[in-house]
Amino acid sequence: MAEHTGSGEALPFSEVYYPSREAYLEYYRKSVEDIESFWSERARELEWYKTWDVVLDRSKAPFYRWFVGGETNINLNALDRWVGTSVFDKVAYYWEGEPGDTRVVTYRDLYREVNRLAWALKEIVGVKEGDTVTIYLPMIPELPATMLAVTRIGAIHSVVFSGFSPQALADRIVDAKARVLITADGFYRRGRVIKLKEQADQAVVLAAEQGVKVERVIVVKRAGIEVPWSEGRDVWYHDLIKEAPERAYVKPVPRKSDDVLFILYTSGTTGKPKGIMHSVGGYPVYVYNVFKWNWDPRPGDIYWCAADIGWITGHTYIVYGPLMHGVSQVMYEGAPDYPDPGRIWSMIEKYGVTTFYTSPTLLRLLRKYGDQWVEKHDLSSLRILGTVGEPINPEVWKWYYEKVGGKRAPIVDTWWQTETGAAMISPAPGISLVPLKPGSATYPLPGIVADVLRPDGTPARPGEKGLLVIKEPWPGMLMGIWGDPERYIKTYWARFSRPEEGVWIYYPADYAVKDEDGYFWLLGRADEVLNVAGHRLGTIELEDAILTHPAVSEAAVVGAPDPVKGQVPVAVVVLREGYEPSDELERELKETVRKLIGPIAVPAKVLFVKKLPKTRSGKIMRRILIALLEGKPIGDTSTLEDPAAVEEVSRAVEEFKRLMKSS
Ligand code: WTA
Repeated sequence: MAEHTGSGEALPFSEVYYPSREAYLEYYRKSVEDIESFWSERARELEWYKTWDVVLDRSKAPFYRWFVGGETNINLNALDRWVGTSVFDKVAYYWEGEPGDTRVVTYRDLYREVNRLAWALKEIVGVKEGDTVTIYLPMIPELPATMLAVTRIGAIHSVVFSGFSPQALADRIVDAKARVLITADGFYRRGRVIKLKEQADQAVVLAAEQGVKVERVIVVKRAGIEVPWSEGRDVWYHDLIKEAPERAYVKPVPRKSDDVLFILYTSGTTGKPKGIMHSVGGYPVYVYNVFKWNWDPRPGDIYWCAADIGWITGHTYIVYGPLMHGVSQVMYEGAPDYPDPGRIWSMIEKYGVTTFYTSPTLLRLLRKYGDQWVEKHDLSSLRILGTVGEPINPEVWKWYYEKVGGKRAPIVDTWWQTETGAAMISPAPGISLVPLKPGSATYPLPGIVADVLRPDGTPARPGEKGLLVIKEPWPGMLMGIWGDPERYIKTYWARFSRPEEGVWIYYPADYAVKDEDGYFWLLGRADEVLNVAGHRLGTIELEDAILTHPAVSEAAVVGAPDPVKGQVPVAVVVLREGYEPSDELERELKETVRKLIGPIAVPAKVLFVKKLPKTRSGKIMRRILIALLEGKPIGDTSTLEDPAAVEEVSRAVEEFKRLMKSS
């Protein structure tokens, strides 16, 4: 199908990008001299209905508001700006289904589809400006089309990852009070059809029990399977589109910069996921610029971000970022190692991918299968490689650089979060590449003021491990947490800010080191959040799920190191009187987590103990559990209530490690 349109030439690294730290730091220095005028200049590259009166309103800090008085719609920048240009007939998505079926979607196709869907959502379904619409779709082109149609009419999308369970979906529907749900009949994963509509239906029932009635369910036909149907409520996506005039045009609704563009739920340190809100004005400005700095997009590029749109990486780097740059992309539905471990490499070769962005977890997995899978394929089209989601170990970095990129392509390691909108710390070949150090995300991007602090708030010395902070607001920052302004302040701003002095410091809850050259090394979460295969999971969410089982009296979930996934959840459980540990019970507890959250959260192991290590005041000492799992010294135990608890857990952990080794 796809012609190879990339340059295809194998240029030595130094001829594509000649690394210069000075050139980058010079640009950076200017950017932070006056962030307001810097971002104001950057925002002028986008289309606005009305430009802003105030670049940055700090008066309600930490509820910073960007480009206040401005009006726009992200469709103007991602879609409508291409009408009448050469990009309009360019491919937006080379889509490939897991079974190998393909579709080619041009910018023109996407524009038509989005307009017709927007028309139908407005005229037939009755979605209004400011409504929330929940989207529960797999990786098919209808997903970006739906997101654009929703934002086009001024509604707010809440995309829920298709791997989440009905209960998790229901919780997100309820929190967002969504009356419309958009889903699919099913999709392919590892050769199986996942029956998504069935799960969506269960979620609708669960949401109704919590008082939120989903009035319409729109269903994309992807797998062609039989689905349960609720007459009057359910409607096929293709039937809806057919209702719209073929040349439907819906004007993108002008929205205020500080309106909510979308919500995306993410895990934190309580049982309840947070609805992170991104803004109509700031988010596109930040994403547009960072995309350019990260990937230095060029006309012939074939770009592939192998994430899922259900996470922030997909929102920013598969939907809005690339579309705002008129880039041609590869989009893939299924498992990365299906039907064999060469799937990714063969697709890079087939489409002539120039820019490839993925997670360290996927690289570790593919590396484990052996180099022969990489070597079989011509990967010389690759010009830039990227990673995101977790720290990348230097060995894997080197393998990626040498084996995959043939030492020609720089590795753009991007540190960021759902809350930050796009990358914050990463190399920027689109400005000037700095010399790379394997395992470091290098420098903060322009306009980003980052530092590493000690727990007491004083700056860490070079080389000293501390806590990452961001000291100035940036346009891609979250606007807040949906329905919970207090939690926003408590989670992100309480740790180091000094409100009485008017000093607000953003706290991402990541450990970091800044070295002598000013390079940042990101070292993982500093809170009770796990990073499993690049997916962010709250330990308390998992514990709450396990505690719903009648046999469980107490549960502590911690992360154990894993060579591929980075971390895996391990549950340490105390049973109620009358229950005995068994394999059957372990299976049941895992099943409970699968049902309440989803397959990604299932613990690798459940360890049954009689007693958890606790302080005298009754707080579970996770620190001890983590140290035991990581094989590190358990440190100070003076506050421990009963040392016998440690011995018991320690024995259970040793047993678990033996099992892991032999499997
Ligand atoms: C971690 C994903 C090291 C970090 C975009 C952060 C990283 C969390 C990196 C956010 C990186 C992300 N190096 N760690 N390059 N990128 N992280 O919200 O702990 O799913 O706080 O956003 O992932 O996860 P989230």
